[in-house]
Amino acid sequence: MKKIKYENEVKLYEDINKYIKDKDFDILLISTPKVMKEVFDDRLIKTNKNILISSRILRNNDDDNVYLELITNDIYSITVDGPSGSGKSTVCKIISKILNIEYLDTGSMYRSLAYFCLVEDVNLDCEEEIMNVLNSLDITFESSQIKVNGDFLNDKIRTNDVSMAASKVSTYYSIRERLVDIQRQIALDNAIIIDGRDAGTNILKNADFKFYLDASPEIRSKRRYDEKKDNSSFEKILEDIKRRDEQDKNRKYAPLRKAEDAVLINSDNMNIDEVVEKIIEIIRGRNVL
Ligand code: DC
Repeated sequence: MKKIKYENEVKLYEDINKYIKDKDFDILLISTPKVMKEVFDDRLIKTNKNILISSRILRNNDDDNVYLELITNDIYSITVDGPSGSGKSTVCKIISKILNIEYLDTGSMYRSLAYFCLVEDVNLDCEEEIMNVLNSLDITFESSQIKVNGDFLNDKIRTNDVSMAASKVSTYYSIRERLVDIQRQIALDNAIIIDGRDAGTNILKNADFKFYLDASPEIRSKRRYDEKKDNSSFEKILEDIKRRDEQDKNRKYAPLRKAEDAVLINSDNMNIDEVVEKIIEIIRGRNVL
């Protein structure tokens, strides 16, 4: 990471254009006073390189200098937390494509473990039995997806039964500790957007950008119902969503909550595109927090 302080505007533009042409970087971050952002948007040469202009990042309020930072992928991370059905995974998949970074769905790890616990008819009240199942799993990350014992589990882990069991297995400290280790390792190795319940509060406390997606239980249930992953009625989905919210928010270890420095987005009246747009806008610095 390279951070340069500029007081001379001409030299700054010269350098930006030189960087864009010559240097090897994943993201050029231009951190400016608020008033300069629009000017930059107009004056920068067109490029396919990833340039983020922000009046927020790394700045003190009274600082009028401009900073350039060359960011390599290994330090670039975004977390998205929120309750079940808030649209995290759909939003994260789209953003990972736009920014050309990896996507880690941490819920899919708890779901995979829950799936194997159900297959092996394990008592979900027994932490030790669940740990034995976890010990038998080889969890790897490939093409933004979790592989377990060499297989992608896909829709098998998306049923209502697996959802409920995942919420239950995720309450145990030893299980979380093990899975969080794997999640951090994946995040260290990649530029990444990562979603879950504790991504911004626990897994990546120092993430570069943090978001918390929320929506009312009724709206979230309606979305789940429309996906029609199984034959559950709307009432049953709503009841389960409320039960999972209760379990995820009130558990002892790493409960679901908004990190203090996360941006709250309530999507009750927003579609997926609008949520994506808002997040990208914030990352690119067009919204000052
Ligand atoms: O995001 P999801 O619905 O796929 O997650 C399934 C369950 O896993 C959820 O009810 C709580 C748990 N979970 C967790 O405790 N921590 C995470 N980082 C992700 C999911």
